[in-house]
Amino acid sequence: MTQDELKRAAAEAALEHIEAGRIIGVGTGSTTRYFIDALGRSGVGIKGAVASSEATAERLREYGVPVVELNMVGEVAVYVDGADKADPQLRLIKGGGGALTREKIVAGASRRFVCIVDESKLVDNLGTGPVPVEVIPMAREYAKGVLIEMGGKPILREGVTTDNGNLILDVQGLAISDPAELEGALDHIPGVVCNGLFARRPADVLLVGTQDGVKKIDRMPT
Ligand code: 5RP
Repeated sequence: MTQDELKRAAAEAALEHIEAGRIIGVGTGSTTRYFIDALGRSGVGIKGAVASSEATAERLREYGVPVVELNMVGEVAVYVDGADKADPQLRLIKGGGGALTREKIVAGASRRFVCIVDESKLVDNLGTGPVPVEVIPMAREYAKGVLIEMGGKPILREGVTTDNGNLILDVQGLAISDPAELEGALDHIPGVVCNGLFARRPADVLLVGTQDGVKKIDRMPT
């Protein structure tokens, strides 16, 4: 199977975690697009969806799924989203699609986070990134300087403005030995809105599309 077919298989398996009548959260990216397509075709009558990006909101609407504001509902029963890397503790790096801030908000507001990936995303450890960092435009050079002091190599994602009107720095070379600690340290840089490490709110379930079928990995209690 191709990587896209593995993504689609993981996305379709996520339907088992969706109950009719619920408000769900929906992430961003190509794997999540397969999930939206499967959800739209399934006929599962969810009450509505909180979208983690404008692109996701648009695609949900195309299927007639009511898109609701998180502020109106407070929480979502399940959040379904992809990832760029996932480690055995289901800590993630996200943000390849630039939607990391809204994704982290909806993940935080979810009772259950179901992450859908193809097997190429599974890693033993999160390594050295790259970690996407969303910064407000006036902080671009300042934040870059701090990230360099921290041992990183920040590269501006050219031509990208997030749905929040901000910029993305992709930071290579950071030692991610303690993902939760680094996640907090990055968030403390003035001008940083959010970063793509999801260690403080890891996934609860990982559905991995593999050549041998979709594997389900539950997060072990710590
Ligand atoms: C978007 C994300 C995506 O979930 C992540 O980049 C994976 O994307 P894809 O499903 O296209 O491989 O975090 O901000």
